[in-house]
Amino acid sequence: MTRDELLILGADLRERTGDAPPAVYDLRIDDPSLADSHSLQLMEHVQHQALMRSYQGRFVLLPDVANGSVVDQMRRHYDPASMLRLDQHRSALETALIGPMAERVAAEVTIQTCADYIDDMLGGIQSAPPSDFLLWLDGIDEREHLYRNFLIQSSTDLLAEASASALGVIGEYGPPQSALFRILIDEFGYGVHDKKHSVLYRKTLRGFGLSEQYNGYWPLFDTPALALHNVIHSLFQSPRNFFRQIGFLLYAETSYQRSTGDHYRHLRKYHPTVDATYFGEHAHIDIHHSDMVVNEVVKPLVARFGEDVGQEIILGAELTRAAFGVADRHLLAVSQAFDAAVQAGEASYGLAAVNATGRCVTPDSAAGSTRLQVGGIGQISAAAFASFPAGSIGREV
Ligand SMILES: [Fe+2]
Ligand SMILES: [Fe+2]
Repeated sequence: MTRDELLILGADLRERTGDAPPAVYDLRIDDPSLADSHSLQLMEHVQHQALMRSYQGRFVLLPDVANGSVVDQMRRHYDPASMLRLDQHRSALETALIGPMAERVAAEVTIQTCADYIDDMLGGIQSAPPSDFLLWLDGIDEREHLYRNFLIQSSTDLLAEASASALGVIGEYGPPQSALFRILIDEFGYGVHDKKHSVLYRKTLRGFGLSEQYNGYWPLFDTPALALHNVIHSLFQSPRNFFRQIGFLLYAETSYQRSTGDHYRHLRKYHPTVDATYFGEHAHIDIHHSDMVVNEVVKPLVARFGEDVGQEIILGAELTRAAFGVADRHLLAVSQAFDAAVQAGEASYGLAAVNATGRCVTPDSAAGSTRLQVGGIGQISAAAFASFPAGSIGREV
């Protein structure tokens, strides 16, 4: 997708969005910032935004409160001809944005049986040390702002948790389908709205004074957060990737049982008044989900179709590991860069009002004294932001 095509698409999406849209029907991307910038980092970021908008067109989304006719808003938002103008770029965007990571993973993956892979993965995850981010936060007094940013970046996917993977459950494919459906209904709280995982996540957001609106923080999402969201969707939006979807679930459910326990303890220790049920619940239930994926989905599918299915599952798991790894490392890098800037007197912690029409700035295009909001962390001058790691996003305050 060329830069000019992206600019045309961005104008089209803004036109479709109209003035003062409900957050759920906001389709804007940062084409106005791209129009007078030749930053490659910004180009990649805006492409990821477009891909995110395309994927989310598949979701049923309603605003919290009526503001005008929701029937009219939905007819406009989900208009098939308008959606097609966006979706026609999807394949090219996936090739450009996700293709290189998928190729790297395929080149690096060791050939082994799926059973051996699972043994190695389970052992590796269970004996892994806590996340570098949480370990580092232990020594930081201002950790609240950095944790708030973690919640905002993760909200890209978690405010509609399991909606992407639900797309892999429809169809007709034998007993593994029913196992996946049982996991899915757990994710949806077994039909009890207050126990739905995305609703539990909202309670944690609330504890940090954050908005619970789906996509409400899109202007603050950084590139690795969008990339992770888009990798997950690239898998689940096409049945072609079915076995890689299983790989995603294998890795995500297994690693989540471990990481959510660490987050639960972190919140209990430093933010005891915040509702941490989201993390406590996952530390428990994902032990079962991981076991169900291994024994009721992966093993029967490999037994039925052979090891080339196993290789696809491994590729999906490793692509997932790679995408989470990039997002995790970036979270730590941007947190450390920001804290160093605060120590140097160039930045201050805190979340300013989100300005969706403020200019979007990447480190390779930052200069001058403009104040930028970096995720949920705080504000910094553009000049100081220029040395931040690639993938960081600053939003003009
Ligand atoms: Fe979940
Ligand atoms: Fe789960």
